[in-house]
Amino acid sequence: MIYSYAAFGLFVVAILAASRYGLKAWRPKAIPSSHSRDEKARYSAESRPETVEAGAQSKLNWKDVEPVKFRPFKSTYYITMALQASAPSELILIDNNYEERVLERRKTMENHKSTVMGAIPAGHDAVRELYSFLLAEYLPGRHPSMFSLEQDGSVFRNHVTNQTFSTTPPADPLEAFKVIGETVEDDVFLLKETDEGHLSVAFLCCHPAGFDPSTKLGKLLKDIHEPVPSYEKIGPSMERFFRKVKAGQFVKRLNWSITTQNKLFTPSGTHIYEKDAFQVDEKVDIDQVRLRVELQTLTRLPKTGAVIFPFKTYLYPLKDVKDEGLGPQLVEAIEGLQKGNAPGMFKYKGAVRWGRDVCEYLKASG
Ligand code: HEM
Repeated sequence: MIYSYAAFGLFVVAILAASRYGLKAWRPKAIPSSHSRDEKARYSAESRPETVEAGAQSKLNWKDVEPVKFRPFKSTYYITMALQASAPSELILIDNNYEERVLERRKTMENHKSTVMGAIPAGHDAVRELYSFLLAEYLPGRHPSMFSLEQDGSVFRNHVTNQTFSTTPPADPLEAFKVIGETVEDDVFLLKETDEGHLSVAFLCCHPAGFDPSTKLGKLLKDIHEPVPSYEKIGPSMERFFRKVKAGQFVKRLNWSITTQNKLFTPSGTHIYEKDAFQVDEKVDIDQVRLRVELQTLTRLPKTGAVIFPFKTYLYPLKDVKDEGLGPQLVEAIEGLQKGNAPGMFKYKGAVRWGRDVCEYLKASG
């Protein structure tokens, strides 16, 4: 199993080595030719690296790494794929929240197992491949001060939590997810292509942003996104892109929302769905409100060919955004949710509930 990743592992090592010697190791991949001109233009315009340099993280002590401050909100909301080229180095970003979050995830998995993980038989091989890739290759190669291999590569050690796991995946995919879930703070959906489109065959999702992940298992992308306003504008491009993405190619996107719950495990209470009753302009506790950003990545596993969609969730107090002088921009972006090509986003993201109080806070001086 380990050797099946040799080619991919070499690729990761090449990136790390090149960045150590200051080389520009990563070049955006060419966009598959089936993409429309618009998609190509958007892709290349958005291909600027905006987070850590490849290799930079491995030299740092994780406790000294501040979470990246993503501020992806724009004045008008347009629903787009908005994919940017990414790199293996951005697949699993680790910062000083690591220990607290993985310990919390362990409890979340114990208390809500059937909500936060699942796999249908079509996804079992892909879960095992993801397990081997992370434990036997990626994590020890990328973050050697935190993770290492012992006993000829058969044992993985997490030096932060002081746990050891076999690098051979457990037969039960949920056991494999349990290990992954307490080793990284990223969530992940795994998909396989079918004649009708991409199907969600497995998921580990301890940080759902307002949806119950277990209801998405065994569903097609278009059905998963059924509640998302104007999804039909991006659905076909997404399916095309998912079909073409190659092993070794990494892309990323950012998604932002405002949440009135300062929690990572929120399987409800964020989105307003079609039939939901809701209170307009409700009173919110600003201290609990967070800008919630997901850094989402997309790549393909080389062996099973499953597409993986890992994502890391960031919660930023509104005060941070305000202190950075970005209050007016965030107000504009909240109001802009109803002005672009997906005006239903204003209600779907809950701005009808929290918009008044949040904007008032962001506009107030001090
Ligand atoms: C290029 C890839 C993707 C794009 C552009 C995309 C786009 C979106 C957008 C715009 C939303 C609404 C965001 C919000 O609430 O703020 C959304 C929601 C969601 N997406 Fe995606 N998505 C992508 C991939 C995926 C994948 C691969 C999965 C899982 C298999 C997924 C699962 C979901 C779920 C569960 C929701 C919440 C739906 C609900 O409210 O019930 N997405 N997506």
